[in-house]
Amino acid sequence: MVDVKNTNWAKLDFSHKNVAYRFHAHWKDGKWDEGRLVTENKLSIDESAPCLHYGQQCFEGMKAQRSKDGRIWLFRPIENAKRFQQSARRLMMPEVPIELFMKGVKEAVKANADYVPPYGYGASLYIRPLLIGIGENLGVRPAPEYLFIVFVCPVGPYFKQGFKPISLKVETEYDRAAPNGIGNVKAGGNYSASLWPLKIAREEGFDEVVYLDPKEHKYFEETGASNVFFVFEGNVIATPKSNSILNSITRRTIVQVAREEFGYTVEERRIHVDEMSKFVEAGACGTAAVITPIGSMGYKGKIYKFYADGKEAGPVTRKLYDYITALQVGDVEDKWGWLEEVT
Ligand code: PLP
Ligand code: COI
Repeated sequence: MVDVKNTNWAKLDFSHKNVAYRFHAHWKDGKWDEGRLVTENKLSIDESAPCLHYGQQCFEGMKAQRSKDGRIWLFRPIENAKRFQQSARRLMMPEVPIELFMKGVKEAVKANADYVPPYGYGASLYIRPLLIGIGENLGVRPAPEYLFIVFVCPVGPYFKQGFKPISLKVETEYDRAAPNGIGNVKAGGNYSASLWPLKIAREEGFDEVVYLDPKEHKYFEETGASNVFFVFEGNVIATPKSNSILNSITRRTIVQVAREEFGYTVEERRIHVDEMSKFVEAGACGTAAVITPIGSMGYKGKIYKFYADGKEAGPVTRKLYDYITALQVGDVEDKWGWLEEVT
């Protein structure tokens, strides 16, 4: 259990930590129960549960953060609720109604409010909604029962160095998803598929892997845990458009802020790997990754470096990071109505 009194919030890493409560709701015979908070962090499920052998499961990633006055906020949670429903549909699981999703998230956060890091440490309470197919089953078919779980834990930055440039390997051997597969839903299988390429990339000295489109291997997709964006001369931002990447809420936020707040040109399009030599800045974006500058990318044995020789975040990436992280903790006006308080 996290020892709140002795936690150094500034030093938190992105790892699992046990906290007091989690929310569980159960689906059986065509309906969801109302759900409840539980203290037990272990599950007891049938060994034949389809989530275990056929990967019938999906998840979400969200954060709760405190504003200066100590109140607790979620960022665009309805978007997570909707994406969770899309993932469930694709994987033949019952959708979690938006109200039940929000109830689970808010109850899990509220019950664990002691673990929401104080304002000003760059830390947050990570929220992991999870939907798994359970019950006895052997053939390839949807599960007879489902469990909706929301667990939470305090975390620091996903990349341990925080807001410092990372290096990516442009993957030429492996794909994380198939052209018409499940790359656009938040299914665990996409992540297990990325473990081996990530291990190799790390051995080669890179921090992460960026995948190319699985059909032609010419266009940028995303990393194993985030979307990406690239900045060209003249404050032009481009971000990949593809059916096999996750529809990132952080990326959509960046697109809207860049256009509406900063007046930048933003292109959502296919981005050819040969355009890399024209990138002035690059960034990874996601709930866990927040906005992480990409300093360099390695492709077919050559290293491409971006702003300041890959050593510093560029001004566009910095400006987006400063604005969006301030917005998420209520330090700038929430003009789009993206914050939702946990009361
Ligand atoms: N792409 C992948 C593969 C992810 O795991 C994530 C994380 O959620 C994202 C993109 C970013 O999505 P979001 O900004 O909604 O967190
Ligand atoms: C998130 O950013 O919330 C994710 O789910 C990515 C995960 C691989 C940590």
